[in-house]
Amino acid sequence: MAEITPEQLQTWLNHSRKYAAAGEVASYIPELRHAPRDALGITLIGCDGRSITAGDCSVPFTLQSISKVFTLLLALIDNGEAAVFAKVGMEPSGDDYNSMLKLELVEPGIPFNPLINAGAITITSLIHGPSPAEKTKRIMQFFQEIAGNAPLRINEAVYHSEAETAHRNRSLAYFLKDNAVLGDDIDVEDVLETYFNQCAIEVHCSTLARMALVLANNGVDPHNGRTLIPRRYVQIAKTFMVTCGMYNASGQFAIRAGIAAKSGVSGGILALVPQRWGIGVIGPSLDRKGNSIAGIHLLETMSAALDWSLF
Ligand code: DON
Repeated sequence: MAEITPEQLQTWLNHSRKYAAAGEVASYIPELRHAPRDALGITLIGCDGRSITAGDCSVPFTLQSISKVFTLLLALIDNGEAAVFAKVGMEPSGDDYNSMLKLELVEPGIPFNPLINAGAITITSLIHGPSPAEKTKRIMQFFQEIAGNAPLRINEAVYHSEAETAHRNRSLAYFLKDNAVLGDDIDVEDVLETYFNQCAIEVHCSTLARMALVLANNGVDPHNGRTLIPRRYVQIAKTFMVTCGMYNASGQFAIRAGIAAKSGVSGGILALVPQRWGIGVIGPSLDRKGNSIAGIHLLETMSAALDWSLF
């Protein structure tokens, strides 16, 4: 497999940065409007410990939907496969990430997959813990361990900004309650509080790359040999990343890049090359489907040049 030199990485990045002009930063969470629109950064961390970076990697950003991959893993650890898939499906929805269309149209009214908002809110309801604060604490601890014990914090401004304006997610959650996907024992506002917290966890490209590395290495931290996630659950998460990680642009990304990845509306993308690279990208300018335009272009370019596709 071809090597990556810092100069080559910089050349790819400079080329992809131009594509940022075609998109917009997310604004439905008001606090995300302050993101630097033209920023683009990438960090790769290898299973061999090598780290390589280019661009604006010092830009902090929030996990947003990237958190959904890791809450899915924690929910699987807490509840097992059968209980999780009694509540969410395994299929791409083909709809926007915040759509509620199929919750009404398709029986039995469970979310199509754990990466759309309805599915992720359901998954968060399955995380064990006596209160939203305790659940959030467990989520932070789990994410932190996968991030190589990097201290993580919640961006409170982003948390409050989303909590105050999340009319659509609130509607989805109440719809799920009515469909009995969120059971009698579950308080909708408590679930949302935990969900908004997980989305507001602040990271850098290096944090994403480190988290992706554990997935690339099938749940084992390659730096200390510890198994952090059972292999079967990593397999489930990575399959969802391929089929649903870029929402209704996942098919196109699978054709063009062919690697497991997950985007967030902050402009972050977590991606991985099995047994080789954990990758973190930031590029806040988004396309209509909520994915980083320059970030996707960069990953597609690199995958083609380095023959990364799984297929
Ligand atoms: O729930 C939301 O709408 C956001 N907190 C996360 C959505 C998101 O990141 C979609 N990604 N492209």
